[in-house]
Amino acid sequence: MKHAMLLELLDGQISFAPLGKSPQNILDIGTGTGIWAIDAGDRWPMARVRGMDISPVQPVWVPPNVDFLVDDCEQEWLMRGELDYAHFRFMAIVLKDLPVVLGHAMEALKPGGWIEFQELNCEVFCDDDTMPDDDPVKVLYDFSQEAFAKFNMNITMPKILRRYLADAGFVNIQCVVKKVPIGVWAKDKTLRLVGMYQKMAILEIMEALAGRPFDALGLDPVQREMILMEARKGLDNPRVHRYFNYYFWFAQKPL
Ligand SMILES: C[S@@+](CC[C@H](N)C(=O)[O-])C[C@H]1O[C@@H](n2cnc3c(N)ncnc32)[C@H](O)[C@@H]1O
Repeated sequence: MKHAMLLELLDGQISFAPLGKSPQNILDIGTGTGIWAIDAGDRWPMARVRGMDISPVQPVWVPPNVDFLVDDCEQEWLMRGELDYAHFRFMAIVLKDLPVVLGHAMEALKPGGWIEFQELNCEVFCDDDTMPDDDPVKVLYDFSQEAFAKFNMNITMPKILRRYLADAGFVNIQCVVKKVPIGVWAKDKTLRLVGMYQKMAILEIMEALAGRPFDALGLDPVQREMILMEARKGLDNPRVHRYFNYYFWFAQKPL
């Protein structure tokens, strides 16, 4: 669903890095269902596209130039100086040690090869004063930020990736930020669809947030249920113009 959402948001584009017409070696790190890697395999039929994940949940029927590798990207990678493109999506928050992973990516890329992160920054914003400070969706994400911090996870990591890329030695660092409406309040038809996808994604992840993360905050089951219930109600209110920022970072290994 989020792949479909990003295709709408980016007008069918799946990457920002200027890869040219014929990249040869592409790695999708933390590929999940492999949907990005499969799409990339169709778009660049001459490239070898590999998806890596610790969890073997990828499909078997894939384009002939796509395959999957079960591996932990925080451990040593098998590749050396051979990748044209290392792609990460919804991974910056998940990784335990981002600098280590960036080091592996740097080694695996060719000189001049590109790295890209496509990430959701989990802070709720509003530009037109329709969102009060105690807005229930904002409250849900404020609690989440606090809860994930207990596990040493920073859910606003996407906005500070420049520093990590620079420290790892990447150059030509570029960033595109896109606003994604939460819910169907946008005037633009495509953004309304994107907002609907985003709302569904929040509804899906809510129960998980209320589990271990909210447990770590010491919230009791009644408090948790209240937070979820209010947030669900809030999501149905199109008069509040909430949005997330999505960050698309891309940078190059020095030549
Ligand atoms: C939020 S999902 C992202 C899925 C995919 N990138 C997408 O956009 O559709 C995170 C994925 O990262 C994988 N993952 C988490 N830690 C990993 C690690 N250390 N090495 C490889 N994969 C990892 C998880 O198994 C999960 O499939």
